[in-house]
Amino acid sequence: MKQYLKLDEWSIIEEGFDPENHEVSESVFSIGNGHMGQRANFEEDYTGKTLQGSYMAGVYYPDKTRVGWWKNGYPEYFAKVLNSTNWIGLNIAIEGENLDLAKLPVRDFVRTLNMKEGYLERTFIATLSGGKEVKIQAKRFVSIVDKEVGAIRYSITPLNFNGELKVTSYLDADVKNKDANYDEKFWDEVSKEVTTNHASVTVVTKKTEYVLCSTMKTELVHDGLKVAFNPVVSEKEKYVAHTFAHGLVEKKETVIYKYAANVTSRDHEASSLAKIAMDRLQGALVKGFETLLSEQADAWAEKWKESDIVIEGDVAAQQGIRFNIFQLNQTYTGEDDRLNIGPKGFTGEKYGGSTYWDTEAYCLPFYLSTADPKISRNLLIYRYKHLEKAIENAEKLGFTDGAALYPMVTMNGEESHNEWEITFEEIHRNGAIAYGIYNYVNYTADKDYLAEYGLDVLVAISRFWAQRVNYVSSKNQYMMLGVTGPNEYENNVNNNWYTNRIAAWTLEYTLSVMDYIKETDKARFDELESKLKISSEETSKWVDIIGKMYYPFDEEMGIYLQQDGFLDKELIRVDELDPKHLPLNQNWSWDRILRSCFIKQADVLQGLYFLNDEFDMETKKKNFDFYEPMTVHESSLSPCVHSILACELGYKEKAYEMYLRTARLDLDNYNNDTEDGCHTTSMAGTWMSVVQGFGGFKVKNDQLILNPFIPGEWSSFSFKIVFRGALLNIKVSADEITITNETKVSTPVIIHGTKHTVNGSASLTIQY
Ligand code: BGC
Repeated sequence: MKQYLKLDEWSIIEEGFDPENHEVSESVFSIGNGHMGQRANFEEDYTGKTLQGSYMAGVYYPDKTRVGWWKNGYPEYFAKVLNSTNWIGLNIAIEGENLDLAKLPVRDFVRTLNMKEGYLERTFIATLSGGKEVKIQAKRFVSIVDKEVGAIRYSITPLNFNGELKVTSYLDADVKNKDANYDEKFWDEVSKEVTTNHASVTVVTKKTEYVLCSTMKTELVHDGLKVAFNPVVSEKEKYVAHTFAHGLVEKKETVIYKYAANVTSRDHEASSLAKIAMDRLQGALVKGFETLLSEQADAWAEKWKESDIVIEGDVAAQQGIRFNIFQLNQTYTGEDDRLNIGPKGFTGEKYGGSTYWDTEAYCLPFYLSTADPKISRNLLIYRYKHLEKAIENAEKLGFTDGAALYPMVTMNGEESHNEWEITFEEIHRNGAIAYGIYNYVNYTADKDYLAEYGLDVLVAISRFWAQRVNYVSSKNQYMMLGVTGPNEYENNVNNNWYTNRIAAWTLEYTLSVMDYIKETDKARFDELESKLKISSEETSKWVDIIGKMYYPFDEEMGIYLQQDGFLDKELIRVDELDPKHLPLNQNWSWDRILRSCFIKQADVLQGLYFLNDEFDMETKKKNFDFYEPMTVHESSLSPCVHSILACELGYKEKAYEMYLRTARLDLDNYNNDTEDGCHTTSMAGTWMSVVQGFGGFKVKNDQLILNPFIPGEWSSFSFKIVFRGALLNIKVSADEITITNETKVSTPVIIHGTKHTVNGSASLTIQY
């Protein structure tokens, strides 16, 4: 944990350059637009420690697996989001001396991520040999309006000298992934073109054959006037450059504008990429940097209108939550149903940029409440499109008749995770995908989705559960053996309560969806019944499993057991451990972790959170009081679920403590791992803590429900909710709640159990 960033409501600010913090800052100050993302690497050369990272959404490489002991059924590869063409590069030499912050004295360094308008800025003064001082101001963004375009304004002002500037503006596709398993380069050159006017490089990924064409144009402005120049062209493998010189004049500003377009064969015909890249670049040049930037600010203002959270009285909390919302909106914009959300977004390589259950369990609620429903719908369609592959995946593991096991980690629907306990055992992920469908339909009332896409997925997942359980005749119960629950600090356990419950719940929900379609559209139901080959024998089996599913439970304590035998462990609270043991995953051997009672993340409590209305307060309290003290929260996905349940149980301090653990996770580098990238999917969990936890927000029986309370540290907080055509701004303070309807759609709301209506374009204030 290290707090070196300045507090500010709308910006992330780093003052002073400390190379020790640089890789963390490269993650935190990343920019992205759903199509591409870029770590906050310097434009100019930097020979210090850095993780160069430029990523194109959905462009991945199936890196051959490295495992010590191969097991049948393992995936052949681990999918990796690729470090792609470096389009920001500007080599700057002044009076023959290279500008490199690892080598030169630097002062007045300020790096700012402007979240309100969506750009990154950096200013500093570097001292060259002989005491020559040069002031640099660099600003850049990737456009959320013209998604294939990125632009840089790089200004150079010599403060006490006249001298020669030499600039090399380049595109470099000869890049590597730091996490490459065999140190292999993943890109091959297709072509390159460099004339005095034009520079582009086209590369293709090995195996997956994604083609990326990048093109650039550099302009020079001196003291406000555009300067024509004739660059020297150069090229190497996967690299093109323009080099030009210019006379710097003391105290006069020289500005380099660099525009780049990055287009891929995911979006266009490979054969037309060069032309499309040129068109995009041309469009950017016509608009110019300032217009592109003001369009960027307007587009971000629109996003903030629907998703902002305002916290009054606590700047650190305000900055933390805006940072999370900003990163989520930079990562996934929802237009493309082939894309999803990697745990690190576009901020680093770890987790390979792939899709996890994080999307349905944590991210979906954020997009449901802060954006047009078609964005969440696309997250669901993503899984629908992977259904065939999920069926194949289950077949590889011996399941039959259309049973589907969705992968734990995927890019294209195939499993690409190869730790056996996760690949084969962490099957609860299937339940989260079914739950995502429920959550979406419950929230949006888009019931058509069920007959159109939803049922296919639900039936296939139900088939998996029906085959995965085994009937124990001596007990007349169904059991599920050899699983890993959400708590990855236990492997190969029998009857993980959460997995058993989410499995039976999936069967219940699937049957209820079938009933709904049958009642509302018999013809469509018949069609689906015959397409999916659903028989009454099969559904009777599901009913039997629902009725006879075994749930480990301790009568005396009134708690669900995380798995069979959990109470045989030595039960110790985390606060009884010497803190030097924490985090366990860095200090204990794996077998010691597995034998211990310590819990990585919400497991039984994940079930109480998802299926909240099934349980009474006493049950929730007993389980929370039993499990939370043994939970080490070593997954960033853990604290939010605890915070939400603590809010419901009235454990205000605990709720706030849990909220704080993720609110500034990356800004304060809480887990000492932000240099690998930000914890993007857990950012959605922090949003959930505020809205579902402190706001007590949920949707039940088509009604909006709010049970707010305010942490003592805040004077008020407000959040936005997009709900069935309405946009509500909900402000909570210590003694009242005000809901402002920013649309004409009048909306009923239940506040602390009493029903009210917020009329269109009106406000409602309720005092407690
Ligand atoms: C968690 C998983 C999660 C993954 C990616 C792991 O540490 O235990 O639940 O899906 O990280 O965020």
